[in-house]
Amino acid sequence: MTEITTDVVVVGAGVAGLTAATELSRAGLSVCVLEARDRVGGRLLTDTIDGAMLEVGGQWVSPDQDALIEMVADLGLETYSRYREGDSVYIGPDGTRTLFTGDIFPVARETEKVMVDLIARLDEMVAQVDPDRPWEAPDARALDEISFEAWLREQTTDQEAVDNLALFIAGAMLTKPPHAFSTLQALLMAASAGSFSHLVDADFILDKRVVGGLQKVPLLLAERLGDAVHLGVPVRTLEWGEAGVVARAEGLTVRARQAILALAPVLYPRITFDPPLPRLQQQLHQHLSMGFVIKVHAVYDRPFWREQGLSGTAFSPYELSHEAYDNTNDGDERGTLVGFVSDRVADDLFRLSAQERQDRILESLSHYFGPEALDPVVYYESDWGSEEWTRGAYAASFDLGGLHRYGADLRSPVGPIHFACSDLAGAGYQHVDGAIRMGRLVAEQIAAEARA
Ligand code: FDA
Repeated sequence: MTEITTDVVVVGAGVAGLTAATELSRAGLSVCVLEARDRVGGRLLTDTIDGAMLEVGGQWVSPDQDALIEMVADLGLETYSRYREGDSVYIGPDGTRTLFTGDIFPVARETEKVMVDLIARLDEMVAQVDPDRPWEAPDARALDEISFEAWLREQTTDQEAVDNLALFIAGAMLTKPPHAFSTLQALLMAASAGSFSHLVDADFILDKRVVGGLQKVPLLLAERLGDAVHLGVPVRTLEWGEAGVVARAEGLTVRARQAILALAPVLYPRITFDPPLPRLQQQLHQHLSMGFVIKVHAVYDRPFWREQGLSGTAFSPYELSHEAYDNTNDGDERGTLVGFVSDRVADDLFRLSAQERQDRILESLSHYFGPEALDPVVYYESDWGSEEWTRGAYAASFDLGGLHRYGADLRSPVGPIHFACSDLAGAGYQHVDGAIRMGRLVAEQIAAEARA
């Protein structure tokens, strides 16, 4: 049994945990990071599969993500733009495929007007929401008691407008059906990215990628932390009290003055707390759950869609893959499409055999890009739902009513235990940017206490 004594023990070597550990080291405190997996990065994983470099987890950087942009620059990493030249594809409720440019899908004129008006309305509402305190927004309680789907239906009877507006938050972001989260939760999602219009604008929200992959961020942070990072040590027990904490993993015990839990909140119950966490946290954590999306990678011998003048960007709430993009790596001759299959549709597909699932998903991509999409040279599905140390994708969100009931307590420390994760963030919520912000926030709180 190895025993370590340190100032702060960090549980989880995702971006939030590694950021916190880095900041604490800079502040002169000793840290010990304990990671369950045999690698760092958590939901960031850049892997080579059948010879193709794939971003299995998070990958895109958008212009409002100051914390991530700063981190990428600090680490000396370079970025490049997602390919976006040419027409995008939209498939309507009757299966009609239409090409378009710009943000607004090519729908009937009346539906377009409803969509444009609703986006403007949502932008106005989002402007009144502080992403760090959405529970203080006007009508927060009422907005948290109505699902996003029900709210949209109250605004219009135009089903296609409802389906498309829901898509920007449901399939594309929270990866839950729009009846499963509140309108306040939807506004938080949009406010965390600056506005609802930003979510509609794929060129904004999916702007840049990091050369070599976004996992380089946690890999470089961990490299700098050196021996302070321990892999393959899931923390099973956390004893806590006024004197500090004791984190126990198999073969390793860490005694510290403070702990940072830098894991997805759905995983807190995997740790035995001694004494148990207070009633409020035990309740609160049960109201957060992971969304679920399959990220599908299809690599072709060339980016054939570009020859047809297509950007590779495609949307349809009526397709298995509700969105798709050109995800070709910088300088790669081969072409990669990435598609996303969300929530109920993903559940249904996982009831099929792997081959049937692949066939169905590629068929969906072929509806957007033609028959060549059926024959990739590499095919891979990122299935974070089966990962023991993540349990879903992209992140966690509150159930109906949970955000205004518990949001204000979400980030409050419990004695020496602090919480940091992208899923608890305001600005940058559910994104790497939010993970960095949360890591910095808890590090600052702990460093300030140490100085006092
Ligand atoms: P994260 O979950 O990454 O890290 C937590 C760590 O804790 C993990 O390493 C885990 O193994 C560890 N752990 C858990 N339990 C433990 C225990 N008991 N003991 C020790 N360790 C334990 N974001 C973005 O900005 N742009 C994007 O394009 C995307 N796209 C995207 C696609 C997909 C498929 C996914 C899954 C996610 C994204 N995201 C994203 C979201 C982004 O990846 C995510 O918000 C952050 O990486 C989360 O970082 P955290 O450090 O908060 O948690």
